[in-house]
Amino acid sequence: MEEIVLPAPAKINLALKVKGLRADGYHELEMIMQTIGLHDRVHLKKIAGGIRVVSSHPGLPEGSGNLAYRAAEFILEQSGIDGGVEIFIEKNIPLAAGLAGGSTDAAAVLKGISKLYQLKISDEVIREMASKLGSDVPFCLKGGTSYAYGRGEQLEQLPDLNKIHIILITPPVEVSTAFIYREYDRLKNGLEIPVSRLVEIIKQGKEINWQEGWANDLEPVTARLFNDIYEIKGILKEMGVKFSLMTGSGPTIFGILDKGEEALFIKDNWPRKEDFVFVTSTVKQEFSELW
Ligand code: C5P
Repeated sequence: MEEIVLPAPAKINLALKVKGLRADGYHELEMIMQTIGLHDRVHLKKIAGGIRVVSSHPGLPEGSGNLAYRAAEFILEQSGIDGGVEIFIEKNIPLAAGLAGGSTDAAAVLKGISKLYQLKISDEVIREMASKLGSDVPFCLKGGTSYAYGRGEQLEQLPDLNKIHIILITPPVEVSTAFIYREYDRLKNGLEIPVSRLVEIIKQGKEINWQEGWANDLEPVTARLFNDIYEIKGILKEMGVKFSLMTGSGPTIFGILDKGEEALFIKDNWPRKEDFVFVTSTVKQEFSELW
């Protein structure tokens, strides 16, 4: 095998609870994470040596500033491979948007290089590498629906949900995850989020009632800094969306809809022309529907 192409899907947080600041500077979290259909495509090609990263997005760093580059460097070094890789990222996921766009490309690089070079490394070792690269990277390896805890790298796989229709709205504002967490610590205004009850609902395969406490502790923090968050949620509500929530540290908001056509209607009539608007749905474990 000389080349391989892998889908690298985005994630949303159906719930995100911050439990506290840890001694290592990270926050102890409890989250419910979900893979969605919006995805990058990561093309990998064997080359004699070195790592080259190219992407379809001009804003994406092409050297070691790109997490995909660091993932390639890490796995090639660890496995002592005599050879390199050329990475082309077809970028569809907005950058720094709360959708794990960088983490998912890194996860695809780990999986892809392991296949390309037929490496004899266990899933557990790949998972450990993923966890060193970033808190969201382990989830991105497997996807589907997970309960995530620790810094977000500890995972318990949950049963796949029945397909949920989603509209994503990303306003054109730059959010620094580290800054949002610092603001969270300063404001100390955590929400009541019954994560274990929500996990039980998913385990029992019950229909989701979105009024049951699905929330994100970081949403009010990011919303204090950017009016866009509540403005978008307000417009979604006016347009008939029963539930919407910010994902990660933002700024993307996802809205939940009963039918795909409703999401398409909102996309076609979305009034804020500067936003990125995308209609998608939940995706199952291993995201076989994206290959
Ligand atoms: O793990 P990752 O590099 O993706 O995290 C980016 C930043 O987000 C961290 O440097 C930290 O400021 C913040 N973070 C945190 N607690 C977590 C995950 C991320 O404070 N559990």
